[in-house]
Amino acid sequence: MRTTDISAKNLFIKNFGCQMNDYDSLRIQKLLENYGFKNAEKYENASHILLITCSVRQKAEDKVFSELGRINQIKKKNPSIILGVGGCLAQHHGKKLIKQFPFIDIVFGTQKINELPEIINAAEKGDKIVNIEMNNLSEIYPEGPYKAEPGRICSFVSIMHGCNNYCTYCIVPYVRGPERSRDSTEILNEISGLVNSGVKEVTLLGQNVNSYNNEKNNLNSFPDLLKRINEIKGLERIRFVTSHPKDLSDKLILSFKQLNKLCEHIHLPLQSGSDTILKKMNRVYSRQEYIDKIFALRETVPQISITSDIIVGFPEETDDDFNNTVNIIKQIAYDDLFIFHYTDRNGTKASTLKDKIPYKVKIERLTILNELQRKISMDKNSKLINKKVSVLFENTSKYDNNFIAGRTRTNKVVNCKASADVIGSIRDVKINKANIHSLNGTLI
Ligand code: SAH
Ligand code: SF4
Ligand code: F3S
Repeated sequence: MRTTDISAKNLFIKNFGCQMNDYDSLRIQKLLENYGFKNAEKYENASHILLITCSVRQKAEDKVFSELGRINQIKKKNPSIILGVGGCLAQHHGKKLIKQFPFIDIVFGTQKINELPEIINAAEKGDKIVNIEMNNLSEIYPEGPYKAEPGRICSFVSIMHGCNNYCTYCIVPYVRGPERSRDSTEILNEISGLVNSGVKEVTLLGQNVNSYNNEKNNLNSFPDLLKRINEIKGLERIRFVTSHPKDLSDKLILSFKQLNKLCEHIHLPLQSGSDTILKKMNRVYSRQEYIDKIFALRETVPQISITSDIIVGFPEETDDDFNNTVNIIKQIAYDDLFIFHYTDRNGTKASTLKDKIPYKVKIERLTILNELQRKISMDKNSKLINKKVSVLFENTSKYDNNFIAGRTRTNKVVNCKASADVIGSIRDVKINKANIHSLNGTLI
């Protein structure tokens, strides 16, 4: 038996990975609050620790493994702490995790959030729990719609789960399950609730967000959902992430023009500029089809900002393939890019391909693209100097308390010297300095 004082319920959640995990962590926090848990705020105060993990690339997993090493030291000093590991890495590795890290008490899968109160209860009795079944794929949130804590200006709202695309490099369909769309009324209610508590901007989340309700013959499609969200009084801005190019319909492109709250930014992962590699990745669009979509977006909404994800060093990627990626990046000139070097994910099709690219080559390619993009980003941001932009202020800057940070509709971070009362308001700002990842400006 453990010596845990089960009356002490101080929960510390450490989060890794994408916005989906951020959202899940907040759901868990809210659910467990109903069971008497308080926010411990740091490891030292915690009776219960939950890690919400990511498995998308090797680096993401390594981060979790090194954190587990740190927690081992904390648990040595205080063995009564209950340690649970959830999220995608937990789903992926299951009981192997406890074998490798015997101080873990709970491994819970991405579909097990609803059952956490019972799971924790069982672990408190001293049992080791591994529960990663994918048998309950309904998306009922027993804790009710997610409510933002006071003072929050921007919030995520998950609208769909899982993915059916099976890009050959990607673990997500295996760890998040098949694609399911949330009920639209539930989504609208959740957003109305958030707006009532002061939220001004929502970001709709999904692994393949723009295929929302696709399977239902578009009777209630993603552009229709956006239209209904756009009507919510008090809401100022709508964003969504992440879109798949194959599901970027003309109707969705037009929404950027027609819906006043929909911000002019899209994250549209390209992954590679080579048709050969796109095929091997199972991305189901060609280089030209992708370029055509970008053209249509820019023609409809000239000021739209476009960001993307790129993978370098996919198995069998030749110099020519890579050069095609370099060229398309020059041609499109993204506002920003997230560039990753390929890593094998166990169980995926790409991991079985024979001709792996050496680490050194992958890093060389990564460096070339990073340098190219830094120039493009700086160039784009510099063009905004002396321009007027509209900024929704969110919080004090992480770097300097005298600055308040917000974002333009095009999702560029702007720091302004201002008092904290601008937080939550949309103000005109004149840009006076450009950096690679942010801008500085003064209130007009
Ligand atoms: N659902 C989103 C995001 C998926 S994960 C989408 O489809 O775009 C985020 C990014 O991680 C991907 O866009 C891809 O660029 C990268 N990624 C995924 N698997 C990877 C792997 N095995 N190696 C390197 N990068 C990977
Ligand atoms: Fe992974 Fe592809 Fe699905 Fe994105 S669309 S989550 S990259 S399988
Ligand atoms: Fe990572 Fe899972 Fe998100 S693998 S990127 S946390 S869906």
